Amino acid sequence: MDLRKQIEEAAREAGKILLSANDIQAATDEKSGHANFVTMYDKKVQEFLFAELARVLPEASFVGEEEGAECFREEYRRGYAFVIDPIDGTTNFIKAYRPSVVSIGLLLDGKPFIGVVYNPYHGILYSAERGKGAYRNGVLIHSSGEPLERSIFSMGTAPYYEELTARSFRIAENYLHRTIDMRRSGTAAWDLCLLAEGITGLYYELRLGLWDFAAGAVIAGEAGCVLTDIDGNPLTYDGPSSVLAVSAGVARENYMPEA
Ligand code: IPD
Repeated sequence: MDLRKQIEEAAREAGKILLSANDIQAATDEKSGHANFVTMYDKKVQEFLFAELARVLPEASFVGEEEGAECFREEYRRGYAFVIDPIDGTTNFIKAYRPSVVSIGLLLDGKPFIGVVYNPYHGILYSAERGKGAYRNGVLIHSSGEPLERSIFSMGTAPYYEELTARSFRIAENYLHRTIDMRRSGTAAWDLCLLAEGITGLYYELRLGLWDFAAGAVIAGEAGCVLTDIDGNPLTYDGPSSVLAVSAGVARENYMPEA
């Protein structure tokens, strides 16, 4: 089985842990930052994936959200590095607001290589490998060709960083006037997949952990999207960053935030 298929298998298995969860409120702790939660299931899924993916690719290093690796270590720039968000959309998970997803990115020499995002609630798996296109449940997908004014956009609120709230919403107001409407899913990985599939035309968030966007960025990039930070600089894949991602159609015009 090729590498991408093996990672997809691991994501599907991990998804079963999300589906089996019960009494999530009781299994929840708070992390630093505003309303930043972790559940016993985030830890369980991460442990499972670290073990499973180490079997698939023994030479790889690992960055996982629940390990608390805020900074990217030098070793992650060499060879393979898995960047994992065991449950992207933890607040959704706690509140039973769907979806929450398993997000597995694989970097090769510090650059995005494979991305797998699995939504176990609706049985939807997005995956991509550099140079080989992006897929939704095995079917090739491409981002939208429509302009900004004919698109809906989604945004993340960078909820753990209250100092970013005012700018986040100024930008949202600006895009609200330049698009059809706005959505907020509660999972950055999922937002990037909806963009990749051509459902939305633009997504941004002022701060994400690498684990929130590593997998989705490969999928969106392979679907023809353009990804930068909020100021238009290339993403560096070496730690937290803002993300501005647009469809192929929106990329043809001036889409930078005017706020
Ligand atoms: C969060 C989600 C959310 C985004 C936050 C992320 P988590 O990830 O992706 O959509 O707004 O910035 O941190 O904490 O649920 O893994």
